[in-house]
Amino acid sequence: MTSVDVIPAARWQPLLEALAGQLAGEKVLSDPSWRSAFTAVPRHVFVPRFYDDSVDPPRWVDSTDPAWLPGVYSDETLATQLLPMPGQPGIPYVTSSSTRPGYMLWLLHLLVAADDMRVLEIGTGTGYNAALLSQRLGDRQITSIDIDPHLVDLARGRLAKSGFRPRLAVRDGRAGHPEHAPYDRNIATVAVDRIPYAWVQQVRPGGIILADLRPVGMIRGGAIVKLTVHADGTATGRLIDGGVGFMSARTDPAHPAAPDVPAIDKTTVSERRGCGDPERTCASTDRRAGPPGHHRLPPPRPSHDHHT
Ligand SMILES: C[S@@+](CC[C@H](N)C(=O)[O-])C[C@H]1O[C@@H](n2cnc3c(N)ncnc32)[C@H](O)[C@@H]1O
Repeated sequence: MTSVDVIPAARWQPLLEALAGQLAGEKVLSDPSWRSAFTAVPRHVFVPRFYDDSVDPPRWVDSTDPAWLPGVYSDETLATQLLPMPGQPGIPYVTSSSTRPGYMLWLLHLLVAADDMRVLEIGTGTGYNAALLSQRLGDRQITSIDIDPHLVDLARGRLAKSGFRPRLAVRDGRAGHPEHAPYDRNIATVAVDRIPYAWVQQVRPGGIILADLRPVGMIRGGAIVKLTVHADGTATGRLIDGGVGFMSARTDPAHPAAPDVPAIDKTTVSERRGCGDPERTCASTDRRAGPPGHHRLPPPRPSHDHHT
């Protein structure tokens, strides 16, 4: 395998610039400061391989594969970690991914992050988003946490290789990271079924929490909630249709988030069908189009959690 560190810039930079141009054209990369951050951070360093299940049989794509760099510099979510579901041998679930850049940038714009702000990211994953935040705001401003120690280790190495040393920690993100609070912004790149009050406590009055709120029973995605924290310890805001959602928060790093939810909210689910696994029901929600340039997820495929 070619080390991703030695890929000449002439191979990846034009792809990155082209993706930036595409996203700018789709109006999800409109802020010049985010554009310069985006074009300064090579995504391939954070995604040395991804799992492609659009082919039969599905396969890991790494730097030896001609499909790797074009895949990395596409506006696609790339699965980077799979774990088997206990009791369902042979059925891997995606437990970490590098979120589709267009979706991530749409969220980063919604975050309205300004210079010198302190940001807590929930869900470090590959470290790519932490790198974008570090590039934009300075790595001293960024704290990023993930429940999975292995992912945090890998992300730390890739971030260091790219010249960034944000604060990383292994934590169940639902408790936040009080040691370094208060934050100006909290962005969760993993879905929660309620906003943990710890997040409200750890963001300063006037600060913003941005999260994917997915009530129990919703399989394919909830809504982005954008909350402003107030001095009286409350937070208020609105729901924003994001088109898709993040994968659900895990409670145990060794266990994928359970897809067998107890109930489906029939007011929001428009379609139910089997998805190849007799133990599961897959569903898709009847949602309006997401942000500009946003694509709906393809129909559910067996053996995956279909979140970004
Ligand atoms: C969609 S990925 C995040 C993508 C990441 N921001 C990136 O740039 O690569 C979701 C991440 O949330 C993490 N996660 C799941 N449950 C969590 C929890 N309870 N607390 C913190 N992180 C969690 C997963 O391990 C996974 O890495």
